[in-house]
Amino acid sequence: MGKVYENGGDRVSMNTLIICTSVHHKNTRKIAEAMADALHADLMAAGDVTPEMCRGYDLVGFGSGIYFGSHHKTVTDLAAQMAPAPGARTFIFSTAALPLLKARWHRKLRRILQAKGYKIAGEFCCRGYDTYGPCGWIGGIHRGRPDAQDIANAKEFAETLKTLI
Ligand SMILES: Cc1cc2nc3c(=O)[nH]c(=O)nc-3n(C[C@H](O)[C@H](O)[C@H](O)COP(=O)(O)O)c2cc1C
Repeated sequence: MGKVYENGGDRVSMNTLIICTSVHHKNTRKIAEAMADALHADLMAAGDVTPEMCRGYDLVGFGSGIYFGSHHKTVTDLAAQMAPAPGARTFIFSTAALPLLKARWHRKLRRILQAKGYKIAGEFCCRGYDTYGPCGWIGGIHRGRPDAQDIANAKEFAETLKTLI
C-alpha cells in the first residue's frame, strides 16, 4: 500500500480503493479500470467489499451504471453500511444514457455519503451503451461508449484527485 506521487514538487502517498458495479454492458467497469490505472488504485466489485475493507484508504471511489435514476443497489447499500467518518475523502462516478443529468443520478449516493460526513472530492459521468427497453428496439443508444475520449476524460478526472493530498 502507499502509492507515491509527485505533487507540486512534494512526494505524497495516497491509497485509493475504487468500488464498482457494472451489470449492463460493463461500461462503468471500463471507466473504473481507467481511473484505477491513473491512481494505481485497488479496484473491487461492490458485492465483494465490506465496510471494514474500506478502512485504511485515503480515498474511496464509488461507481456503477445508472439504473432507474440512481446507482446500483450494491453500491448504495455498501455506502449506507459504512461507518460515519467526517472528512473522509470519496468520489462518485457513473455511466448513463443521459449523463447531462449526472447531478440527479448521483443524488442518492451523494446524500448517503454526505450524511456520514464524507467529503466528495469530485463526480464523473459519461455516456454508456444502453440497450434497455425501447433503446434496445432500435439497436441501442451510445454504441461504442465509453470510447477512447471517455477513457481519457476519466483518467484526467482521476489525475485531479491526486492533488487532494
Ligand atoms: C435497467 C436499466 C435502467 C437504466 N436506467 C437509466 C436511467 O435512469 N438513467 C440513465 O441515464 N440511464 C439509464 N440506463 C442506462 C445505463 O445507465 C447505461 O447503459 C450504463 O452505461 C450501464 O452501465 P454498466 O454497463 O456499467 O452496467 C439504464 C439501463 C438499464 C439496463
